[in-house]
Amino acid sequence: MTQRVAILISGGGSNMLALVASMTGDHPARPVLVAANDPAAAGLARAAAGGIATAAVDHRAYGDRADFEAALHAVLAEARPDILCLAGFMRILTPDFIARWEGRMLNIHPSLLPKYKGLHTHARALAAGDTEHGCTVHEVTAALDDGPILGQARLRVTAQDTAETLAARVLPLEHRLYPAVLRRFVEGERGMLTLA
Ligand code: GRF
Repeated sequence: MTQRVAILISGGGSNMLALVASMTGDHPARPVLVAANDPAAAGLARAAAGGIATAAVDHRAYGDRADFEAALHAVLAEARPDILCLAGFMRILTPDFIARWEGRMLNIHPSLLPKYKGLHTHARALAAGDTEHGCTVHEVTAALDDGPILGQARLRVTAQDTAETLAARVLPLEHRLYPAVLRRFVEGERGMLTLA
């Protein structure tokens, strides 16, 4: 039975586009909604252009996280997703929200977790003098960027790299890794995928 996937974004949605583009043909899942916490997120128009239903739940319109998440849940309930993919989604979700989706919610993070949870991952990898860097897809749990790792993609850091060049070189890895991990996840595979 085809799995229904909702994708949460905050910005341009390049990872969302890669996920949407992958869910075709014999892929066992299809995108059913792209939702953003910012009505101005450019990814909303890009999703709509691809024929995907979209929704904007502006987190600034709600007094607290619980109210925002209740509104987000209402939108999700209508789309009836089986799986949530966070893709450049920049809001911290409460443990209550996560508890309702745990085991069915994925995120992509631009570092080789468990290194560099949180923000500014590329600058931190450079500052640490790391020779390897990359991205991770993991299951979302209440602890930030801490859930079971499902896949990683790696690259060599060069002496010429800056945080900007690293971000630009990691992003295409994300676009390869996330769709590959999502398909395995839908097919019930939980072993770690490593992309060189
Ligand atoms: C990417 O670096 C992703 O790792 C991070 O947000 C950035 C933008 O993602 N979570 P997207 O282009 O909006 O998918």
